[in-house]
Amino acid sequence: MYNFNQTIERRGTGCVKWDEAPEGVIPMWVADMDFAVAPAIQEAIRQRAEHPIYAYTLVGESYYQAIISWFQRRHQWTIAREHILYTTGVVPGISCVLKALTMPGEKVVILSPDYNCFFSSIRNTGCVVSESILQQCHNTQGRFEVDWDDFEARCADEKTTVFLLCNPHNPTGRVWTREELQRMSNICHKHHVRIVSDEIHCELIMSGHTFCPMATIDPTAVILNSPSKSFNIAGLQMANIICTDAETRRRIDRAININEVCDVNPFAPVAGMAAYNESEQWIDELCAYIEDNYHTLCDFATKHLPCWQVMPMEGTYLAWVKIQDCGDVDAYTKKLEDEAKVWMNPGTMYGEESGKGYIRINLACPRATLLEALERIKNIQK
Ligand SMILES: Cc1ncc(COP(=O)(O)O)c(C=O)c1O
Repeated sequence: MYNFNQTIERRGTGCVKWDEAPEGVIPMWVADMDFAVAPAIQEAIRQRAEHPIYAYTLVGESYYQAIISWFQRRHQWTIAREHILYTTGVVPGISCVLKALTMPGEKVVILSPDYNCFFSSIRNTGCVVSESILQQCHNTQGRFEVDWDDFEARCADEKTTVFLLCNPHNPTGRVWTREELQRMSNICHKHHVRIVSDEIHCELIMSGHTFCPMATIDPTAVILNSPSKSFNIAGLQMANIICTDAETRRRIDRAININEVCDVNPFAPVAGMAAYNESEQWIDELCAYIEDNYHTLCDFATKHLPCWQVMPMEGTYLAWVKIQDCGDVDAYTKKLEDEAKVWMNPGTMYGEESGKGYIRINLACPRATLLEALERIKNIQK
């Protein structure tokens, strides 16, 4: 049993999440976790650190085999070695893939609200964001669903060339079902739109839900993933791009080189291998802990925070909460920070219109931290 209740002091370690937060404020914003990484990863890093040279790094065959084995074992997805490229992160990877697949002025469809860097990556590539707004569905306890007519109309737009999917979905916590993914794929094929799927959250799945890799439905989709989010090693900066088509892969590889995001540090592949080869039990226990945190939040909100409606969280560790009758969410999150000393993200970061009325809460923290934050919020709402 791993101890996710342990509180680890992160202030003073150059930690974005804590050191950017004013003294006394509990940060529940940026998506990293306050948990120690799996022991196998710590040990692998320690061993690598003992070798006193940290120079340019080759990524060995065993790294690729770790990825192939993990996705076969955990997600029944067969990946061919030659289809894998690596780069310094999922966001740099998205930027390269968009460069390879689009021309400036083209449209990229996303399901809004959506991960904030999607907006900037699309714009930085000279493309236009086409937001298909997710609809809250009342007969599935408020879960968000695709507005299929709107999605198809956007894909049918002759300027649209790419659909950038977040699977599972940050910030709404949706784990798209096989049927939904199939429908997205059918529409994209019909209108000759390429699918790019960011699957960085794919290990963070709550019970009763199953992650389906988009490539198992649509082998032409370009997939981005990394153990970084689920194993809390994002600071090591490495991600993988899986692309079956040789010509597309060549173009992506070229973009990786042009963008100069082709070299990784010596610790990243070592940590990635320890995650995929030796930390399976850890990730299972982590998901169970996060799920308990989610239930803790729901129970607390039901009892003490009447204006909070917590959306179903099927995956990720990011709760998406509707705030009723609290006015503007930017002002609301500012009040949370100033008065309750808790930093949560306003939904408008994930869609100026689609995120109105929502906040995003990072639940990847010890339960005591979560409860302390909720108590503080309860106290200012009296
Ligand atoms: C959907 C999604 N993609 C990518 C990232 C960041 O990936 P990276 O740090 O590898 O660039 C995040 C971080 O929160 C994310 O939520």
